[in-house]
Amino acid sequence: MAMPATGRFEFATDLSICRILGGMWQVSGAHGAIDPAGALAAMFAYHDAGFTTWDLADHYGPAEDFIGAFRRQFAAQHGADRLAEIQAFTKWVPHPGPMTRRVVEEAVDVSRRRMGTDRLDLLQFHWWDYRDARYLDALRHLADLRDAGRIRHLALTNFDTERLAVIADHGIRVVSNQVQYSLVDRRPAARMAAWCQQHGVTLLAYGTLLGGLLSDRWLGRPEPGRSELITASLGKYKQMIDAWGGWALFQQLLAALKPVANRHGASIANIAARYVLDQPAVAGVIVGARLGVAEHIADNARTFNIALDAADLAVLDPVVSRSRDLLQLIGDCGDEYR
Ligand SMILES: NC(=O)c1ccc[n+]([C@@H]2O[C@H](COP(=O)([O-])OP(=O)(O)OC[C@H]3O[C@@H](n4cnc5c(N)ncnc54)[C@H](OP(=O)(O)O)[C@@H]3O)[C@@H](O)[C@H]2O)c1
Repeated sequence: MAMPATGRFEFATDLSICRILGGMWQVSGAHGAIDPAGALAAMFAYHDAGFTTWDLADHYGPAEDFIGAFRRQFAAQHGADRLAEIQAFTKWVPHPGPMTRRVVEEAVDVSRRRMGTDRLDLLQFHWWDYRDARYLDALRHLADLRDAGRIRHLALTNFDTERLAVIADHGIRVVSNQVQYSLVDRRPAARMAAWCQQHGVTLLAYGTLLGGLLSDRWLGRPEPGRSELITASLGKYKQMIDAWGGWALFQQLLAALKPVANRHGASIANIAARYVLDQPAVAGVIVGARLGVAEHIADNARTFNIALDAADLAVLDPVVSRSRDLLQLIGDCGDEYR
């Protein structure tokens, strides 16, 4: 089945994306072993179903190499002209240190080499410590590299609203910020989304399915112990649920989602993804894919045919409003890393 037009988004000039991006942290090794040949075959399956956009990072194990291999095989099968059908959004997560032109250039060149491309579609920049203002040096060099054609668009990940404003005030143009955004973690709605809308910046959301916890699979299940949280992602988001309100409240959320999903002939995961896609400033949600291990192609494609209405939201709102305020508890988006 062809992907509906609602599955695409004009992300930036000459850059259309699928609104559900394939998340490649899941191939890093922290989520179980991945067989490269199986992963590559899965990438073709996702692409053929219309999931043409990938999110990755320099530190997600072989993810950038997988993109390189995928692009080579894709070009061999379909011709290099069609490589533009693939969008691969990587990140640079440098260790703290001097951000000279040389350091920045070398990092970008490593990603270009690994991904087999002269120009990165999107480079999302992460920074660990705002007290170290050298993130502005790095961003200035990245902007130069963009202007020189080595990066198509510059973006951020896990920056808070205050620093988005600082970066804009320094005249550095970015197209998006990647942040955690889900029915459980709604911090971006507090201040960031409005700022983004005013300044023409979009959000790419991760953690939308809480590593898979926000799905039919976990409805009615007792609180999982560590041995059941078999991926890094499950462990990360179980902690987030604990901070948000705990397993009992989370089960109430799953129970509230189930009839909404049934009404739409959909899954809980579909409703969770649709909810975030409908939020202001959100360009897309990144859904992790354990390539070659587990796939959710047909199920996730259904998300684009769902329209949530006021009655659906009226069922969900009372549950999520009983949670703790993560903004107060953790801080703005990305503060969980600092
Ligand atoms: N910028 C950052 O700091 C940051 C941080 C975290 C993640 N990310 C990005 O976001 C991506 C998403 O990762 P995440 O850790 O946040 O996980 P996630 O997307 O919330 O969850 C991914 C898991 O959800 C399950 N799933 C997917 N579709 C499903 C469906 N239709 N029904 C039921 N289950 C479904 C799969 O579990 P199974 O494999 O078990 O089936 C999959 O492994 C990462 O790969 C990465 O690209 C970025």
